Amino acid sequence: MVNKITVVGAGNVGATTAQRLAEKELAKVVVMVDVVEGVPQGKALDQWESAPIEGFDTRVLGTNGYEETASSDIVIITAGIARKPGMSRDDLLNTNAGIVKQVSEHVKRTSPNAIIIMVSNPLDVMAYVAKQVTGFPRERVLGMAGVLDTARYRSFLAEALDVSVEDIQAMVLGGHGDTMVPLISYTTVSGIPVTQLMDRKRLDAIVDRTRNGGAEIVKYLKTGSAYYAPSAASVQMAEAIVHDKKRVLPCAAWLEGEYGMSGLFLGVPCKLGRKGLEQIIEVELTPQERTDLGKSAEAVREPMSVLKL
Ligand code: NAI
Ligand code: 2OP
Repeated sequence: MVNKITVVGAGNVGATTAQRLAEKELAKVVVMVDVVEGVPQGKALDQWESAPIEGFDTRVLGTNGYEETASSDIVIITAGIARKPGMSRDDLLNTNAGIVKQVSEHVKRTSPNAIIIMVSNPLDVMAYVAKQVTGFPRERVLGMAGVLDTARYRSFLAEALDVSVEDIQAMVLGGHGDTMVPLISYTTVSGIPVTQLMDRKRLDAIVDRTRNGGAEIVKYLKTGSAYYAPSAASVQMAEAIVHDKKRVLPCAAWLEGEYGMSGLFLGVPCKLGRKGLEQIIEVELTPQERTDLGKSAEAVREPMSVLKL
């Protein structure tokens, strides 16, 4: 257990993340911060009141300021707004970049040694904003997307093959968008290549569903996006760090030459431990996977070029 984990944004993803962190007792204190008065306080109190039933001793606090977050070990950033009618993608990008910039300045001032897990969208670009603003080394700024995208891929495969989700090993790399790259060549069921268990047409349909996994949920919810699986994914990354598990998970990491690319966040296999990002693992890719990863990187660089910081 660490001393303190802060979750910025007490909306759907943030509040569910805080509850999961507390239930797993990953920190002595979980602090939720939001700009809306009363919401983080009310949700945090409600969660703390579930502690005697769920049996956790992690204190959950809500606040509109950053003093209570001081010296956090991990900060998970989920603050942002959803796209509104009349708003272009670039407008949304710059609005959320402004929010993440402000949040990152507070984090730099109050928790200079924290490890940041970015969740806000557009994910890969928001991770870049946090890194630029805080000046933290790449070991301490990570983006959550690959764990979620891989979980969606694994759940769809388990359903189609009628096997346990636990026996599906897979990895989705690339940016968090429809150019993401599920690695079929590394997808196995207890070590058995998935291509031996499923025909290519069915597999391609699952890959396509994975790429559109976020949109599929939005279509149902209409007024919001996914948060149960996203919060579980964020907490899995935090857990790997808190318990120094050296887990190998697909995360958005700042590339410095890995996979032949530099100067952007992109989803790659990362070893997570108590220091945060402890290693980026370079796996062999098929020529098609390498091309797809390159295209995904271009899709991340494009919004970076219209970013006003
Ligand atoms: P939400 O709208 O429920 O919550 C966002 C919260 O951020 C609101 O409570 C809002 O008041 C707060 N906020 C806005 N400005 C703030 C500021 N300056 N400081 C602190 N809090 C502030 O949205 P939800 O569903 O929780 O999603 C949050 C973000 O996570 C969105 O950008 C969403 O697109 C992204 N997301 C990313 C995923 C990923 O895989 N990386 C998966 C799911 C969501
Ligand atoms: C998702 O993939 C919206 O990024 C979010 O559900």
